Amino acid sequence: MKEFKDKVALITGAAHGFGMKFAEEAASRGMKLALLDQDNKALTELCNQLKNENIEVLELIADVTEEQEVYDAIEKVMSKYGQIDLLINDAGAATGGPIWEVPTRDWEWILHADLMSQVYTLRKVLPIMMKQENGGDVLNVASVAGLMSTAGSPMYVSTKFGVVGMTEAVAYDLQAYKQNKIHMHVFAPAFVHTNLDHTEDYRPEKYSDKNDPYYQSETFKKVLALNTKEITTGMPLDNMGKIVFKGLEDNKFYILTHPGLNPLITGRAEDAINGKAPDLKKAMSFMTKAH
Ligand SMILES: NC(=O)c1ccc[n+]([C@@H]2O[C@H](COP(=O)([O-])OP(=O)(O)OC[C@H]3O[C@@H](n4cnc5c(N)ncnc54)[C@H](O)[C@@H]3O)[C@@H](O)[C@H]2O)c1
Repeated sequence: MKEFKDKVALITGAAHGFGMKFAEEAASRGMKLALLDQDNKALTELCNQLKNENIEVLELIADVTEEQEVYDAIEKVMSKYGQIDLLINDAGAATGGPIWEVPTRDWEWILHADLMSQVYTLRKVLPIMMKQENGGDVLNVASVAGLMSTAGSPMYVSTKFGVVGMTEAVAYDLQAYKQNKIHMHVFAPAFVHTNLDHTEDYRPEKYSDKNDPYYQSETFKKVLALNTKEITTGMPLDNMGKIVFKGLEDNKFYILTHPGLNPLITGRAEDAINGKAPDLKKAMSFMTKAH
């Protein structure tokens, strides 16, 4: 995407963290915004601030794990603007724990918040972009945990590998269907200091059960503590909007943030070719390079 001015960006997860930075960067480049989040208070605050700066913005309160809410939001964007030039699938959550202890409801939550949410938007937005003369761009937010596996959260790793694989596969299909004016991108950062340490605040009611003893367990307490530690010691958030929009401008498919992790990404591919099993020591070396 070379020209941003007067184009329309739909950004999910815009109320905090990366999504908020993407919204601010899009606004600074003259885009019209449609911002979606489930946190109505924080989203309204951001939208009011942008409106005060004379930015055109549509506020969309929706839960991305609810398919129909996502479709209704996209209809509202089309009613107001009649086009979507940039879709950023950013909304997401993170939790961890061993597969033999974590309730399947946590898997359902992360799978729907981080992966199915992107399926819902892509199903509706890609056909819109196919009809547009200038096509459009899509950025799916994954994680470096979608390019190399790590210890501690099989469900997060599964969904992020899913996002990377899905984005690559959709890019092939767009080429096969000669949709060359639609450009796919995938963002794969390591730890960045966003609001993700408060991810439990966004857990939708349908994925909660206060009576499940798991949520009082030492395992769950450790998951929360580790999440807080990793996120609050992450890279500063400030430049992330600029890094990602430069990646879009340069039409980069993969947009990465932590070059120190590159040997682990290539190392995983080599291990796969050589039939080597995952090595916990190697995975733990990730933790030191991921901030
Ligand atoms: N921060 C990191 O270190 C890091 C690293 C790699 C990938 N990511 C990914 O970046 C994305 C954004 O996370 P972030 O770090 O900016 O966290 P964040 O918590 O600061 O922002 C996430 C936003 O998504 C919204 N959200 C969550 N669930 C939602 C739902 N069901 N419906 C609608 N909105 C919902 C939240 O309200 C919040 O505004 C996530 O997909 C996350 O997995 C983050």
